[in-house]
Amino acid sequence: TKRYSITLLPGDGIGPEIIFVTKNVLKLAGSLEGIEFSFQEMPMGGAALDLTGVPLPEETLSAAKKADAILLGAIGGYKWDKNEKHLKPETGLLQLREGLKVFANLRPATVLPQLVDSSTLKKDVAEGVDLMVVRELTGGIYFGKPRGFGINEKGEDIGFNTEVYATHEIARKRRGQLCSVDKANVLEASMLWRKRVTAIASEYPDVELSHMYVDNAAMQLVRYPKQFDTIVTNNIFGDILSDEASMITGSIGMLPSASLGESGPGLFEPIHGSAPDIAGQDKANPLATILSAAMLLKYGLGEENAAKRIENAVLDTLNRGFRTGDIYSAGNKLVGCKEMGEEVLKSVDSPVLAA
Ligand code: NAD
Ligand code: IPM
Ligand code: MN
Repeated sequence: TKRYSITLLPGDGIGPEIIFVTKNVLKLAGSLEGIEFSFQEMPMGGAALDLTGVPLPEETLSAAKKADAILLGAIGGYKWDKNEKHLKPETGLLQLREGLKVFANLRPATVLPQLVDSSTLKKDVAEGVDLMVVRELTGGIYFGKPRGFGINEKGEDIGFNTEVYATHEIARKRRGQLCSVDKANVLEASMLWRKRVTAIASEYPDVELSHMYVDNAAMQLVRYPKQFDTIVTNNIFGDILSDEASMITGSIGMLPSASLGESGPGLFEPIHGSAPDIAGQDKANPLATILSAAMLLKYGLGEENAAKRIENAVLDTLNRGFRTGDIYSAGNKLVGCKEMGEEVLKSVDSPVLAA
């Protein structure tokens, strides 16, 4: 048996609901591949604020650093919205990403054939979309001052380091088309970004590089999303464009993410937030988190088979017609978060190969 330790950070709002079902899916998929997990649940975000007075307790960060991978639900909520900046749940999340040095955030947006009808875009626009937003996660400058061609206190250009290398490696694993999205017509940080991306791309002749301004990219994503393979962009543009891309796939409740550094454990979380409007009602779609667990297995632990089991189980569950409210369309079976999790568990157990 292979053993891995996973730090679970359920967080706030729907976080505990989606982590609960995902933990069971991860456990089962692992056990079928001879993998045993030890889970350690730690407080984070608003939950940690209430418990300890800070959004990222030291014990949580040190446990996360020692783990083989980290699975996060979501953080934030109305209760803490008026807190001072250093006492916001969101600050804790940024501290966690920074503390783990996970600068490359992979956010795949794939339109599953089962969910074409759930997309808000026309069928022929949404069908077959398979793109990946690679978001720089531990840097980024937009309105920040001072602005310009600068170097931070550590002597680094925030957003201009190894994430671009990681990006090209991922672009190669995909279809070899890389679109760098920036605002180089206005922002100095983007001008430098474009220069660095172009320089590094010259080392990867098999990757076809293009550049696009972010406003155009936002438009092109809903006009003709199939033109994109891999998008690489800075922290804030990646945040916004990935939420936009999620809707092409049917719901933000479907999009997983992996945050990776050069070494150390990866951080895996859905791209959505704590959804306070539906928290505690058993309405949340757990699939984004379940698919994040698949990314954890694949990118975090190199356990491709167990990852495939989970991906396959999600497809099989959708094939069997189960839908949470956010992806529901007529003729399907409407279920809550818990039941969706139970159905995915059944599919992990069964050897059905979903298309
Ligand atoms: P949100 O993503 O939480 O919710 C946006 C909308 O999408 C809501 O209507 C919500 O109900 C819906 N939604 C989100 N996830 C869903 C799911 N799994 N299933 C079904 N519906 C889902 O964004 P928001 O409302 O802007 O933010 C709420 C809180 O979450 C804020 O405190 C914000 O800072 C925080 N947030 C946290 C993270 C994170 O932990 N990584 C990410 C984004 C936002
Ligand atoms: C995300 C979120 C976070 C971000 C917030 C909650 C800090 O929106 O993970 O996409 O902006 O990165
Ligand atoms: Mn976001």
